Amino acid sequence: METVVSGIRPTGNLHLGNYFGALRNFISMQNEHNCYFFIADYHSLTTHPTPADLNGNVRQILVEYLAAGLDPEKATLYVQSDVPEVAELYLFLNMNAYIGELERCTSFKDKIRQQPENVNAGLLTYPTLMAADILIHRATKVPVGKDQEQHLEMTRTFGNRFNRLYNVEYFPEPQAFNFGNELVKIPGLNGSGKMGKSEGEGNAIYFADEPEAIRKKVMKAVTDAGPTEPNQAKPEAIQNIFQLMKVVSAPETFSFFDQQYNACSIRYGDMKKQLAQDMINYTEPFRERIKAISSDEDFLLKVRKMGKEKAQENAARTIREIRKIIGF
Ligand code: TRP
Repeated sequence: METVVSGIRPTGNLHLGNYFGALRNFISMQNEHNCYFFIADYHSLTTHPTPADLNGNVRQILVEYLAAGLDPEKATLYVQSDVPEVAELYLFLNMNAYIGELERCTSFKDKIRQQPENVNAGLLTYPTLMAADILIHRATKVPVGKDQEQHLEMTRTFGNRFNRLYNVEYFPEPQAFNFGNELVKIPGLNGSGKMGKSEGEGNAIYFADEPEAIRKKVMKAVTDAGPTEPNQAKPEAIQNIFQLMKVVSAPETFSFFDQQYNACSIRYGDMKKQLAQDMINYTEPFRERIKAISSDEDFLLKVRKMGKEKAQENAARTIREIRKIIGF
């Protein structure tokens, strides 16, 4: 059994891409491993959200991840700022993180380009905070995408450096948890690229979307004038629509439209109508659970309290041991 840690950014609503990206794997991992999943609200301070936005986003993400199937009885599901031990470990790790290596980090270089008016020390030390998230539970596995591998590498560096400095073997080396083939790529609706909230208006289908909103977005999805020769290769935008259909529709529906495409008799309007309906049906149980959980304040408070307690028990032990190692 591995100890797994992963952070979830509290930005935006949950869409199909998130679900088929990491979330489904979190849901299966929680049955097999000792999992800590948390909402990374300390990290989001690097962009200076308003208190209302911060609070609303954290709540929404918690609701939606619960609705999608994260189980607070199986995994430890918590909010990062509910466990201030993380901040203490971050402080310790920062004493051993060098400016040069932090400045060389790709995500830092991207960030200073994106927000040149707010290049704060939290941005620079984002990797040490992430290392603290992981090392506080002495995790062995971290399910992350390619974009986070450098951060994970830095986490290993910081953990090993701590071990060497104090001549201990305290932190294990966390490794990336590779989903491999289980990752289903979900394209967006605007013709190219993957589903994502930064890919433009109407590109993503959110679990909280009402049926009418889903219908509108799907009907607006980019298509083309249609195939002119039998069995023609599909251009990207068309492939995308078919890929979405593969995920949410019945196999017969998919092959019906695939045959029509190959026979050049396809009418994209009909296909999109069907896709919209299947998308609505697919997301329906999520939508219902989001509404139910969102209106159950007692349940949410209970989940938060339980997560805080479970995470804090482990985190407090790490801090106690670390303080002793350091010499406090
Ligand atoms: N940096 C991660 C992201 O942008 C989120 C994150 C924060 C995280 N702390 C973590 C992921 C610890 C894994 C482990 O997606």
